[in-house]
Amino acid sequence: DKNLLTMAIESSCDETSVAILRGGRDVLSNVIASQIDVHKVFGGVVPEIASRHHLSNINRVTEEALKEANVKMRDIDLIGVTYGPGLVGALLIGLATAKAFSLATGKPLVGVHHIQGHICANYIEHKNLEPPFMALVISGGHTNIVEVTDYNECRILGQTRDDAAGEAYDKVARVLGLGYPGGPKIDKIAREGNSHAVEFKRVFLEKDSLDFSFSGIKTGVLNYVNSEKQAGREIHTADVAASFQQAVLDVIVAKTVGAAVKMKKDKIVLAGGVAANSRLRDMMKEACEKEGIELYYPSPVLCTDNAAMIGCAAYYKYRAGYTDDLTLDAVPQLPL
Ligand code: KG4
Ligand code: ZN
Repeated sequence: DKNLLTMAIESSCDETSVAILRGGRDVLSNVIASQIDVHKVFGGVVPEIASRHHLSNINRVTEEALKEANVKMRDIDLIGVTYGPGLVGALLIGLATAKAFSLATGKPLVGVHHIQGHICANYIEHKNLEPPFMALVISGGHTNIVEVTDYNECRILGQTRDDAAGEAYDKVARVLGLGYPGGPKIDKIAREGNSHAVEFKRVFLEKDSLDFSFSGIKTGVLNYVNSEKQAGREIHTADVAASFQQAVLDVIVAKTVGAAVKMKKDKIVLAGGVAANSRLRDMMKEACEKEGIELYYPSPVLCTDNAAMIGCAAYYKYRAGYTDDLTLDAVPQLPL
């Protein structure tokens, strides 16, 4: 099954993506149509608009993916698709497309959990990586510490109780007038700032808890900015961005490395859009080195939403004997 050809579709949020893979880890094409420019004017993803754009993009993106991989639809052996979690209308476009291809070609269909997909991006990037390991999945929609015991076996040890980490980045960027999506903007400007200029509260929650809370820090930044303005002082955006980022990452790094040590894992894997963050990578490297833990993360294009990671996850599910039928439905709050 090393030569098995998988077509995968991802449409859970604002990226329409189709990828072709040979085997589980060899990406022949990974076409991504981003809607960032469409949603920018609203400062965030508008679900109804996202669905409409998926619908108008999906056939073109599919054709491009096949063309770039130089394969025909009839050569495809397996069809993988994200069925949750995500925006229901957005998910339905990818699902309907995947089911239609499965019905027309008679090829098996495999539904993929979006978070499982994010983790699998690391198998594509690191050809020799194998479970078990501890994973940090950190994006605009999720913040999870996941114990991965096998290709199809994992367990959430900690998660956010309110905002996702990426959501916090996006909200704080808006407060600072940096624009959308805020993560990459804060990443960049924070490099020129002093991360200890403002000491924002580090929220660790109960002792031993691996959960997170990021809803307070947006208010913390907002209050700081307002009080500085009221006092007639100038706001140093780079300093505030760097300080916010440091407060959030201090907690994330401590909890993730702590979880790996406690569960005796010698590898940590980063995944999701925020895993592209340069400061997170640096802090993780340092903390992992201290504990003798190996650190893995995907290149930025495989961190944010893409179909290649979904294809990889579909491959490993199919190899373990999972398939879905045409009753497969979108599950917006799909548990892992
Ligand atoms: O994985 P993703 O594309 O979509 C979800 O599944 O949510 O992640 C998007 C999120 C956004 O919140 C964006 O601001 C954040 O990832 N992000 C970053 C960086 N690049 C993307 N956050 C911090 N630093 C970055 N370099
Ligand atoms: Zn995602």
